[in-house]
Amino acid sequence: MSPRIVTLPGDGVGPEVVNSAVEVLRAVGSLEFSAFPFGAASIELTGLPLTDEVLDACRSADAVLVGAVGTAHQPTDPAAPRPGQGLLDLRAALGLYANIRPVRAWPALSDMGPYRTETVKDADLVIVRELTGGLYAGTRGLRGTGADRLAFDTCVYTAGEIERVARVAFELARTRAHSRRRPARLTSIDKANVLETSRLWRDVLTALGAAEYPGVRLDHLLVDSGAMALVSTPRRFDVIITENMFGDILSDAAAPISGSLGMLASASLAGSPAESMTKPLGGLYEPVHGSAPDIAGQGVANPYGAILSAALLLRYGLGLPTEAAALEDAVEGALAAGIRTRDIGGVATTADATRAVLGQLR
Ligand code: IPM
Ligand code: MG
Repeated sequence: MSPRIVTLPGDGVGPEVVNSAVEVLRAVGSLEFSAFPFGAASIELTGLPLTDEVLDACRSADAVLVGAVGTAHQPTDPAAPRPGQGLLDLRAALGLYANIRPVRAWPALSDMGPYRTETVKDADLVIVRELTGGLYAGTRGLRGTGADRLAFDTCVYTAGEIERVARVAFELARTRAHSRRRPARLTSIDKANVLETSRLWRDVLTALGAAEYPGVRLDHLLVDSGAMALVSTPRRFDVIITENMFGDILSDAAAPISGSLGMLASASLAGSPAESMTKPLGGLYEPVHGSAPDIAGQGVANPYGAILSAALLLRYGLGLPTEAAALEDAVEGALAAGIRTRDIGGVATTADATRAVLGQLR
């Protein structure tokens, strides 16, 4: 039986890039796809960003491919449904605690972005972002009136939540070291000089590393200086692990290393990639970029991030590493052939870039 993929194209450029990814996936293997409304598109139809029906479909799928959610305007009414909430609810409901965001400097894009070539040349890192806890999950509220209006968000982590995502990062560090024939390194980023959750974070990482991953060199950076190190000397990083909010910020901050936010892919998993060799992990795959309402519907969005997310879906979600690598090579080939969308300094349309990847696959 063919694996069943649920697609949630969502809003803005989401449907355009998901179409590209599906087209490419169809060329790689025999898969079944069914699409459902999500985000603002779902709010328009049902009043909710994520309905039970769609959640059930995601639960029973072999993997989920998401485009993007969000519209140009944030609702002013705090009670109004928000497109992004659909994504947060979906991550929570599927228990997707580990978000993997690879960032690499593509040789063919060395002239793109704000960097001098020598600063980013061969940069190749992965951000592992904890995805279901911290400020995103803690109690929040708004009360009072006038100058007394008070808002709060709380950051909560348990040692167990930290340990399970830490394991993913340690194992990823080990696997990457093995395939790249170099020592295994993991950098944990926190704010242990201020936050109690960060002190627990550091403690759990250190203890787990010493007990179970002595072969992985673990170091810790505070998020302010870590952010500076990431943008100024990205080549020094291999695997980074950080909590939810820091990971949200740092992964966008790292995007220019790859030339454009449009190049970044992500996998959201409920287990460790190391397991995907023996047991496909399912999970959710999406480009890191947003819905980009300013260019939606024009056919000019960069589909490479979505196609690279499809590659992660093959690797981790379905346990097909060979097919995944073929897709990644095809994107590299399309870039090398100079097929660039607007965000990476070219004139190619979404369809041109998709066709180029398909051409490389043949
Ligand atoms: C991301 C996005 C989401 C997040 C939004 C859309 C809720 O920015 O996946 O990085 O903050 O996690
Ligand atoms: Mg983000």
